[in-house]
Amino acid sequence: MRVVRFGILSAALLFAPAAQAADNAPTQEKAATCSGCHGENGISQMENVPSLAGQPDQFIQWQLVFFRAGSRKNEQMQPIAEEIANEDIRNFGAWFSKMTPPKGPEDKDPDLSAKGSQVAAGRRCASCHTDSYAGTKAVARLAGQREEYLVKALRDYKAGQRVGGGVAAMADVAYHMSDEEITAVAHYLAHLK
Ligand code: HEC
Ligand code: HEC
Repeated sequence: MRVVRFGILSAALLFAPAAQAADNAPTQEKAATCSGCHGENGISQMENVPSLAGQPDQFIQWQLVFFRAGSRKNEQMQPIAEEIANEDIRNFGAWFSKMTPPKGPEDKDPDLSAKGSQVAAGRRCASCHTDSYAGTKAVARLAGQREEYLVKALRDYKAGQRVGGGVAAMADVAYHMSDEEITAVAHYLAHLK
């Protein structure tokens, strides 16, 4: 497996243990501004907005750093991330990663899921995203994520529009995927419980 590198971004600032219980009230208050888009309990009801509940702590922190640095581009998230201090990045990582992850809705197209499952096996998605697709460290949770967001993310990687920390892993993976494969694998992953 490829070693994931994050270039010159300073890891030293981040990933320290988050502030302890006494500081959770302010985090809850700040996280309320996130729930307008990312949903109550970190489960998004909004098109093209990902759920955050149950994402790995480090993954959340890195994405916020990427938005803040402007290496991950998004009109909605960049201005928000620009206002977030390192301490809050740590606190948000701890906060959302502890929430109960979303459960995929009822699967109305099991044939498409079966196809998606084959794509995932063939392209060894689980080798990085873990067998349960819960993600780990800087690798995203995919299980139960919104279907149209997964499609969008894969298309963004494929088009070179989502670069993040310059991690080539997903660009390499997505570059070789057809739109049909993307549609199928997104359907499969979105319906995992
Ligand atoms: C105005 C709507 C909006 C608000 C408010 C908002 N976000 Fe976002 N957020 C988005 C959108 C849209 C994306 C997906 C961007 C993309 O497609 O690349 C996103 C993506 C993210 C991601 C990356 C998740 C992933 O799976 O890749 C994180 C982490 C995140 N937001 C954290 C936050 C936090 C923390 C807050 C509150 C401080 C917040 N967001 C507030 C709209 C919002
Ligand atoms: C070599 C390791 C590796 C493999 C193999 C891999 N991924 Fe990823 N994936 C990552 C990493 C690392 C990230 C976070 C990248 C970033 O920061 O943008 C990620 C992010 C993603 C995201 C964005 C999630 C979000 O919430 O923003 C999607 C979707 C995704 N992967 C789908 C897949 C699919 C589908 C496959 C198989 C076809 C796959 N990945 C194979 C390492 C991998």
